[in-house]
Amino acid sequence: MAVDANGTNGAQAETYHQEALAALKDQSLFIKDAFLDGKFVSKDKEFDVYEPSTGTVLGKVANCTLDDFKAAIKSAETAQQEFWATTTAAQRGGMLRKWFNLIIENQEDIGVILSLENGKTRSEAVGEVLYAASFISWFAEEATRSYGDTIPSSSPDTTVLTFKEPVGVCGIITPWNFPAAMITRKIAPAFAAGCSVVIKPPSETPYTCLALTKLAVDAGIPPKIIQVCPTKDRAAATELATNPIVKKISFTGSTGVGKMLAKLAADTLKKCSLELGGNAPFIVFEDADIDLAVEGAMFCKFRCTGQTCVCANRLIVQKSVLPQFTEKLVAKVAALKMGPGLDPSTTQGPLVNRGGVTKTAEHIADAVSKGATIAFGGKAPEVPGFFHEPTILSGVTPDMLVANDETFGPLAPIFSFDTEDDAVKLSNDTEFGLAGYFFSKDVARVMRVARKLECGMVGVNTGKISAAEAPFGGVKESGYGREGSMYGINEYQNIKSVTIGNNDK
Ligand code: SIN
Repeated sequence: MAVDANGTNGAQAETYHQEALAALKDQSLFIKDAFLDGKFVSKDKEFDVYEPSTGTVLGKVANCTLDDFKAAIKSAETAQQEFWATTTAAQRGGMLRKWFNLIIENQEDIGVILSLENGKTRSEAVGEVLYAASFISWFAEEATRSYGDTIPSSSPDTTVLTFKEPVGVCGIITPWNFPAAMITRKIAPAFAAGCSVVIKPPSETPYTCLALTKLAVDAGIPPKIIQVCPTKDRAAATELATNPIVKKISFTGSTGVGKMLAKLAADTLKKCSLELGGNAPFIVFEDADIDLAVEGAMFCKFRCTGQTCVCANRLIVQKSVLPQFTEKLVAKVAALKMGPGLDPSTTQGPLVNRGGVTKTAEHIADAVSKGATIAFGGKAPEVPGFFHEPTILSGVTPDMLVANDETFGPLAPIFSFDTEDDAVKLSNDTEFGLAGYFFSKDVARVMRVARKLECGMVGVNTGKISAAEAPFGGVKESGYGREGSMYGINEYQNIKSVTIGNNDK
């Protein structure tokens, strides 16, 4: 489609997604039904899903009611008991491995669906599909490595064992910025542990979840183990957090919603994993490799058009290297090509919705009104679709909105500092604590600053910290619980201790 940095082009916008969908190798992967009680089912009521590159409706999806959620939870309860009673860890691992293989085979189709509903570039979308699949592969292995213990007893004739058991039905609420990976990072460990899931996918991007669900069932995962209820009804999250059958909530999204869910879940004392907002500092020390730091900032800031919880929200640069870093970053950002995700020349897609464009513009306007200057970009082009220019601000200070609030857009605000202590203080001056990054070649500084940053994940000399093997999660108001890694499966298990006494009788 002939869409460039100036945006979409009239009638072509209308056919953009139709052509892309018609070219899917497997048409059955574009699904608009809910997946309830082991079947895809249509609903009388549906809601619109938008295509961010054109701002037009991509399609309609079943709009589940609270009664659908209640029925899905009940169905998932019975299915989970059977799943746990009838499968070994090796069998669950085998199902996950088959699911992984099917996703790899269908990566291009899922990438197109994902790009259409989210807006990210095709290569980023396929990259996300592979990232999503890596959690399935990881937890296929973890299923068979999740051992209990034999504990030395304080009594001579007693044996103490631990069993790891599934928590039961899990309520899964995921965001639109990673329509594939946030689903698999939660449900692969749930299945490995022997749990069932009821998913409320994001209403902006439900299609990727439904495609993954079809492949899960094709792979032999018992259908009632996975229930997918797309909905526009916000009360659905409340149902998941309060229904006594649900034993765990896993949520990725805003801190405000996370706090509300934790409060609601407290009444039935559900386990919770909450991966919430961030305000990541990205520090560039004067002893850093500046080219490496610019490369890291490009990945970390502009991946998914700045819409990641772990993206650099504040670039904090030592004064002596400020001009050099800014000049190099401007050159790289100027080379980005804004456009629709599926256009092969695009390197920066649209935001997911109009709200994202407005928030980015508000952060820029606020900073400029308080003295920041625009080093690059700064405008939202008046075109169909939800575009904002990738933007760099210089001279940003802690009194500006962007210092305290996650932009979730393509805005790189540059702060400056004199000393290491200043940089650490500025970095930690936030209620959030998800990710932090810094660049330095000084080994002692690397150890010192990595310890001092108040966040759950630190990237040193890299902007890329996300991988199946690395624990993902935050501290402070960025939430609790860890996803991926050797720890991720624990979130879906209870430890039962079994004490066998009188062993000598
Ligand atoms: C997120 O933004 O929530 C996830 C980012 C990631 O997994 O890298």
